[in-house]
Amino acid sequence: MSAGHAPATDHHFLPVEAPEGVSLSAGVRVPPGRDLAQQAPVGKQTKQTKQAQRSESDVYRALLSELHSGAGEGGDGVAVRMVDIRRQLTEFQLHYKFGMDEVLTKINVLREEFEHTRDYSPIEHVNYRLKSLDRILDKVQRYGAEPTLESIRHSIRDIAGIRITCSFVSDAYWVAEMLCSQPDLRVVEVKDYIRTPKVNGYQSLHVIVQVPVFLSNRTEFVYVEVQIRTVAMDFWASLEHKIYYTYDGEVPGDILDELRDAAVQAAALDQQMASIRDRVTALKDQAPVSGQGATGPTPRDRATTGAWFPSDDAMGTTWKWEDIANHAGGPHEAPQS
Ligand code: GTP
Ligand code: MG
Repeated sequence: MSAGHAPATDHHFLPVEAPEGVSLSAGVRVPPGRDLAQQAPVGKQTKQTKQAQRSESDVYRALLSELHSGAGEGGDGVAVRMVDIRRQLTEFQLHYKFGMDEVLTKINVLREEFEHTRDYSPIEHVNYRLKSLDRILDKVQRYGAEPTLESIRHSIRDIAGIRITCSFVSDAYWVAEMLCSQPDLRVVEVKDYIRTPKVNGYQSLHVIVQVPVFLSNRTEFVYVEVQIRTVAMDFWASLEHKIYYTYDGEVPGDILDELRDAAVQAAALDQQMASIRDRVTALKDQAPVSGQGATGPTPRDRATTGAWFPSDDAMGTTWKWEDIANHAGGPHEAPQS
């Protein structure tokens, strides 16, 4: 079985250009919360015990009963209550969509800014998905979380998911730094599976942020999970995901070995591409066409000047990844410049 692999998200990711207006039950595009960083993620220690106590249909029934009890007064007819249950669920999912839209806008701003002002953008593709209600309840059941909207809001942090694909490893860190440095985002949790890949070979940066969503009468802080990786890492992850599902989680050992080997090769390809980029960048003054072109800045540009591009002023407001990782999950505040 694939280590640490949470089932069922990859194939739900849509390209960012996909049309809007997806049905709520089919998986649209993202959570609110209060003191969420203080709250431990869904309690995995109690997973098995709770799982034994509650089957999947129990989870559905319990959630429905909670929604039902919150839906109007005892005297209301069934139809009125059903409308209210539907309203509660729609509102719940809409807040995630709003949160995801906010973060997507931030990413698009970066992307368009780069496209218009530079010869190079570190962002290759952006995909997103909103976890369907079925998958949310499946996770509630697997992790033994309470089947109430309030508990789900606090404990399941990947209802809204965005995936950014970059050309180079340094671009993945760079994009993470630009995003996490934005003062209105709270960086709740950071996982660096590039520095420390999972045992199966999986690599990516995972960042869980909370974004403020300004509603008519209040502000909700919605969790959004952002995964950032290279094209090579993405290729590996999508194949691994399909294999995992083909074998229903029980992948034969020799295939797992080959996947691990493929992950090593993907990492080697990333390194080789970066080395080619560095050589081309070093020679760019001699190139027939000037500009950053296909190569983009190298991490060395930043190391020497403090800025990613040699022409930039030192970007004092952009946090470095190490600082972001050190602050995340702390007192719940995003790194502020
Ligand atoms: P979940 O939130 O239940 O997934 O557990 P977690 O918080 O420990 O997961 P983690 O942050 O490590 O991974 C979250 C997401 O990253 C998953 O839903 C997948 O989209 C992706 N992911 C993590 N591990 C793997 C893996 O081994 N293979 C693939 N293909 N994707 C993975
Ligand atoms: Mg997760």
